[in-house]
Amino acid sequence: MITSALPYANGPLHIGHVAGAYLPADIYVRYLRKQGKDVVFICGSDEHGAAITIQAKKENTTPKAIIDKYNAIISKAFSDLGISFDIYHRTSAPIHHETSQEFFKTLHDKGVFEERESEQYYDEEFKQFLADRYIKGTCPVCANPNAYGDQCEKCGTSLSPTDLIEPVSTLSNKPPVKRKTTHWYLPLNKFQDWLQSWIVEGEGRTEEWKKNVLGQCASWLKEGLHPRAITRDLDWGVKVPLPNSEGKVLYVWLDAPIGYISATKQWALNTGKDWEPYWKSADTKLLHFIGKDNIVFHCLIFPCILKSHGEYILPTNVPANEFMNLEGDKMSTSRNWNVQVHEFLEEFPGKEDVLRYVLCANMPETKDSEFTWKDYQARNNNELVAIFGNYANRVMVLTEKYYGSKVPAQVDSVEQDAYVVAYRAQVAQLFNDYCTGIESYRFRDALMAFMDIVRLGNKLLTDFEPWKLYKTDPIRTEGVLRICLESLYDMATLCEPLLPFSAGRLNAYFNLPAAPKMAVGGVNLTSGAGLGSPFYLFEKIEDQVIQSKLDALESIRRSREAVTAAETTIIAANPIKEAISYDDFSKLDLRSGVVLSAERIAGADKLLKLTVDLGFEVRTIVSGIALHFSPEALTGKKVVVLANLLPRKMRGVESNGMILMAEGKDGALHFVAAEGNAGPGDSIS
Ligand code: MF3
Ligand code: ZN
Repeated sequence: MITSALPYANGPLHIGHVAGAYLPADIYVRYLRKQGKDVVFICGSDEHGAAITIQAKKENTTPKAIIDKYNAIISKAFSDLGISFDIYHRTSAPIHHETSQEFFKTLHDKGVFEERESEQYYDEEFKQFLADRYIKGTCPVCANPNAYGDQCEKCGTSLSPTDLIEPVSTLSNKPPVKRKTTHWYLPLNKFQDWLQSWIVEGEGRTEEWKKNVLGQCASWLKEGLHPRAITRDLDWGVKVPLPNSEGKVLYVWLDAPIGYISATKQWALNTGKDWEPYWKSADTKLLHFIGKDNIVFHCLIFPCILKSHGEYILPTNVPANEFMNLEGDKMSTSRNWNVQVHEFLEEFPGKEDVLRYVLCANMPETKDSEFTWKDYQARNNNELVAIFGNYANRVMVLTEKYYGSKVPAQVDSVEQDAYVVAYRAQVAQLFNDYCTGIESYRFRDALMAFMDIVRLGNKLLTDFEPWKLYKTDPIRTEGVLRICLESLYDMATLCEPLLPFSAGRLNAYFNLPAAPKMAVGGVNLTSGAGLGSPFYLFEKIEDQVIQSKLDALESIRRSREAVTAAETTIIAANPIKEAISYDDFSKLDLRSGVVLSAERIAGADKLLKLTVDLGFEVRTIVSGIALHFSPEALTGKKVVVLANLLPRKMRGVESNGMILMAEGKDGALHFVAAEGNAGPGDSIS
């Protein structure tokens, strides 16, 4: 039972997702299928939670429209890239709602949960509790005024809504109030000892776990686990199946991972199989392929849920990957810094295997890794084209030239040649490395071993030089090319998990079905059997293609930097004042006015006494602008007046209002005025 993390259906899939949780799983599954194992590969869209409703608000549509849109884009991207799920399901399906609710009820009836009352932010206008992402405010760490209730995206600090300074609801833009609410909690603290011995000490585990995974788990356990709410106040999701729980849904912990189980049930219905052994039988190996952001979820929380239920097996391994960066920066959909899978495949049709190859070669198996367009080009040109494509093409061309594209005969003297015997032994050793790599989730190593096998093939060609040998010893040449063809057939088999599209094209060349088993040296081609015409497996990628991708990223980077620079100058020169409500603003009575006359005030070199026509009355206003303007220059000027400021005496003159001015960066003052026909007394709001 192999699962890959259910992606949220709130945006398209990018290559970082693929390298993290989907490509490794697909390689592993394709390999197991070839080993003849009974394997089911499960995935689907995670269609609930605030991730979806917030995207719906952003796109000004309904949650249902969002999940339908992105589920279609994501599932097509997966299948176009050859990710071979046995089922790609959806958590909005009724069978999933039933399964999750059943799980909740079983655990609830067993008394696993604790019910607790707490205070949470509530929007009185929209009459709903606010998920973390629905609350914005000022970050207590870096003073970013747009931090979210779960995280400040500027400084990266993870927050809880109550940390925010002056929180507002993103729905109504009003400060939320606190309200009491009741939720069900999973008391993770009660599982602490068991998790410690299972994960850290390896008690009852059959496989070694990856260091990056163990490290994260150990640090959580060291901090000490706390009860976690497994329900939420939201109206989009799986309803809590208890009386008096309107407006409450199951939180992601009790929803998305149960999606693996409900998807298995649907797969079993589709294929006439029984789903239960895959989740309940002790001889089933359960693996979760995920990215590092989901480690806690799959290593701590979901196992507690499965164990509490009682009938389910636990994961044998959780081979989580770290993150893949793009050109030196974190990949992100919201910051538009990524390569979207569906866009890549539309722009570069036929490059599925190239992308798979490059993502596998740079898979973030032990630490964060990097995708760069230059590396993409180099690996294509120097490895796929120059090594694999070249080998395949040379073998095909020589076979066409000398044997009319028919399989040449085996030649005993060549078979027994010491070089050939040594070649076979080296290939067998590399095949072993390839298998060990995949079986121990080291897919980069497996890919390297495969390419080394191809390199050996190229070396064999170079060493025997069939294009020369043919002139002196055509029989021996036949034996050599026979070996090359058999190796090529082996390569088709071995590359299937990594490069399934190329594998298909090679099998078609041989007019043979895919080899039933993962092996080398076992093939027996039929002498004289017809082969296809020579072709190139891969094509060179030109510099200008790469340059245009780099240019596009560069312009995204520039525009982002320009925005940040603008923000920082404004803030540094003149920090914005604290936010006020509309009520505060509406207290100001601003009016258009005209200066009738101006005169200096004796003994005050900064002040001018202005007489201003406000339409309904003429006011005296004292203004500190004498150093900037001569009295004569002011007569007849249109101005904006704050008309309801309390009177104040300055140098014996009572001032009744204030003139608005703009202050430039150089300190110069400029009048602010209502344009056009606005006349004295007109109100400004
Ligand atoms: N959709 C969530 C995420 O992308 C959860 C995925 S893991 C699963 O982080 F277990 F829920 F599938
Ligand atoms: Zn911050």
